[in-house]
Amino acid sequence: MDIEIKKAIDYLNYNIALEHSAIIQYLFHAYTIGEEGIENELEEIAREEMRHLRMFAHMVVDLGGIPAIDKRAAVYLEAPNVTDLIQFDIEAEQMAIEEYGKQLKDIPDKRVQRVLERAIKDETSHLHIFQDLKEKVKENIAENGENYVLDENKLKIVHLLNQYLQKQYEKILESLYQSFVMRHKNPHLSDEIEQRAIDKMKHFGWVAEEISEYGAKPDMSMPPVNKIQDEEKIVEYHIEDQKEFPKEIESIASQVEDKDLKWILERIAKREIHYRDLEEFLKKPDVSEKEISQVISALTVGSLFKKKD
Ligand SMILES: [Fe+2]
Ligand SMILES: [Fe+2]
Repeated sequence: MDIEIKKAIDYLNYNIALEHSAIIQYLFHAYTIGEEGIENELEEIAREEMRHLRMFAHMVVDLGGIPAIDKRAAVYLEAPNVTDLIQFDIEAEQMAIEEYGKQLKDIPDKRVQRVLERAIKDETSHLHIFQDLKEKVKENIAENGENYVLDENKLKIVHLLNQYLQKQYEKILESLYQSFVMRHKNPHLSDEIEQRAIDKMKHFGWVAEEISEYGAKPDMSMPPVNKIQDEEKIVEYHIEDQKEFPKEIESIASQVEDKDLKWILERIAKREIHYRDLEEFLKKPDVSEKEISQVISALTVGSLFKKKD
């Protein structure tokens, strides 16, 4: 492999790790700060970091490399108060801007430069948003020193939810990896898996929020990532996942008394079952390309979400 290309791939993979940690850090802050205005702002920025991660991963694949989806840079999750927490986010943006700027000068490839420029632009606006937010928080929010007491029953549920969260995180990363490596080999499958990962991110968010509402911390530690590249094995993986997952989530739901939480868990299980049906449809030997794309476009996360609300 050309030495310049190898260098670009290494940089891009480092950027994937940076974006990955930014996503986790911002989401964790969003869920644990528990202040609606801030939460929305942080989630929106996290979504843009997901787009960056995707953009960098696609670039790696296009250059002939393997995206490093199993690596994460440092995350700063806890601070004595909300202002200090947002300061960590400010620093993450400053670091990204500096790093991408340095790479921009060091990588001559125009395509890579384009994605770096796009990212720098976004990170610069994130930096400003965080700086404003920090000022606002200073004025408005009293330091929140609430202490929740978790009884044994709640602890048990938090534990179950955190186990679920960890597993979702693992599946999200594995699915993204599969979607990226299948990008040129099988674009249909790649899209389908990506949609599934996005759906799982939504479930991840719902459950993490519930955990925070219980006064506990979502477990966002880095899970192990099993990197499957073989097309047949990828399909098998998802069939297996679809078989097991609704069962697992239904079993958690059955142990929960809280009505809202039960509803959310059942909703997640239903969505998983929906995907299982889709899987069977896709496996039929006589499905046309057109049918497949119709089903897939009807199934975008947005449409699924709207259907229910
Ligand atoms: Fe980013
Ligand atoms: Fe950013």
